[in-house]
Parts: sequence; C-alpha cells; structure tokens
Amino acid sequence: MQETGKNYDTHWWALIYDQWNETGGRSELNERELHFYRNQLQNTRGAILEAACGTGCKMLPLLLDGLDIFGFDISLPMLEVLRHKAIDSGISDIDARISQQNLANFIYDRQFAAVLIPASSFMMLPTQQSQIDCLRRVYEHLQPGGRLLLNFYIPSYTEDILLHQDTPPAEEEFGECMHPETGRPIQVNYSKICDLTSQTETYTWTFEYDGEKAKVPMQARWIHKEEFQLLLRLSGFDQWELYGSHDGKPYVGSPHITNTYWSVTR
Ligand SMILES: C[S@@+](CC[C@H](N)C(=O)[O-])C[C@H]1O[C@@H](n2cnc3c(N)ncnc32)[C@H](O)[C@@H]1O
Repeated sequence: MQETGKNYDTHWWALIYDQWNETGGRSELNERELHFYRNQLQNTRGAILEAACGTGCKMLPLLLDGLDIFGFDISLPMLEVLRHKAIDSGISDIDARISQQNLANFIYDRQFAAVLIPASSFMMLPTQQSQIDCLRRVYEHLQPGGRLLLNFYIPSYTEDILLHQDTPPAEEEFGECMHPETGRPIQVNYSKICDLTSQTETYTWTFEYDGEKAKVPMQARWIHKEEFQLLLRLSGFDQWELYGSHDGKPYVGSPHITNTYWSVTR
C-alpha cells in the first residue's frame, strides 16, 4: 500500500493540474463542484478550511467571494502554484492561510464553521485507518453545528473497475499538456490496476517532456455510500445529507460512474 499523501507530491502534477482541470468534462465538473460549495456556504459565518486544497481551484474563488477560508495540502509544488495565483490576484495574506499538512493528521489551534474536501480528494486516503483518522480530525476541528462538505465519485464496475484487472496493465493516453514556462508539450499517459479486495486503483502516470520520461505512482481508494456512512458514524457524526448532484438531486445508484455530494453536520 502506498504511503499516505505521496500522490501529487511531484512538480509534474503541479505543472499540468490546472490545464487538466480546465479542459472538457473536467472543467464542467470543477464548475459544478464550485457551485455546490458556494451554495452550501451561502449562510456560513466564520472561518472555513479546505482540506487538500491543491492549486486553489476552489479555495481562491471562494476567498475572492469574501469567505474567510484557509487551506492545506500535502504537496508543496501544488501549494506553490496556489501561492503564485493568489499573489497574481492581489491576495496579500495568502502565506498566513495555507500550510503543508496531511489529511490524516492535520492540526489547527482553532475550530472552523465548515471543512471542505472537494474533488474526490478523500479517495486519496489509501487505507481505512487513514480515512477514519481524517474524519476524526475533521470532527475535532468543526465547531458544534459546523459542517463537513465533501464530494467524491463512485466508479463504475462494468465500465471501469472490471476493465482494469490485467497485469501488467495497458498504457492509456491521458493527453498532451503545455509546459507553462516553455510552451513545449508534456505528453501524459497512465496505466492502472484496480484491486477488488482493497478497493484501490493503483496508477502509474508517465510524463514525457523534452526527451525526459518520469514515472509517478498514485493510489486512490473507492468508497461506497453505505461504507462512507459507517466511516462517518465511527468518527462521531450522526447527521448528514447526501446528494447525487451539485444542485441537490437525490443520490441513486447506477452502473455508471456517479458523483456524491455530502453535507455532514457536527
Ligand atoms: C484532486 S486534487 C484536488 C485539489 C483541490 N481541492 C481542487 O478542488 O482542485 C487532490 C489533492 O489532494 C492532495 N492530497 C493527496 N493526499 C493528501 C494527503 N494525505 N493530505 C493532504 N493532501 C493530500 C494532493 O496533493 C492534491 O493537491
């Protein structure tokens, strides 16, 4: 099992993450997620925390909306991109708002009105223990009545998981990105194996740039609705709402990939 938090800890992801997030279906998903968090936070007063804030695709727009939002991420290269974008947007106190911390053991000397875990980042926790540790940290860092807001996807067995059982796995094309400084192409491919017993997707990402080839591992753990509710109970929560879309439609199981959006109250 891969060590918790090593998934995006490379300059390669930091170089391409925003380009990836701004293309096609991914861009639409990012906008929908932002809609969910904006809508949910409309009447929230007080400080908010985004866990695994990455390059700030949620944190920075919410900060510019006027929310008092803080963020942490395990990856320094991702945080560095966030920092530069914040400075370009005229946010002068960004260094006081971000830190390098781990989902499984983050710590603040205050509580928050809301903790956000967008973009399926909760799936970056590869073990049940790290998931429980994370949710307990969230519970401790929420004010009474405060809310955990998060979203993650539930993959399709027939269209994804069962098609990724082969060893060695086939290499698949992810796409071409542009190096933000040189404008030269970065070719990105990946292979993945899905383990049905541990519910993990193990990826090897390949980044090719100027004749250099880097291989970067990543592991994600998929979670089912009933399982997540047990994790919430184990971590002290007993009140939540689950939606199947960013605009509040009910969640219904499906043979296709589905998104889940949660509002969990302490
Ligand atoms: C899919 S990105 C989401 C970034 C951002 N929240 C967004 O909405 O665009 C996942 C992020 O989780 C971070 N991450 C992965 N494992 C982590 C861990 N154990 N602790 C903290 N951050 C982690 C990665 O570095 C990456 O920035």
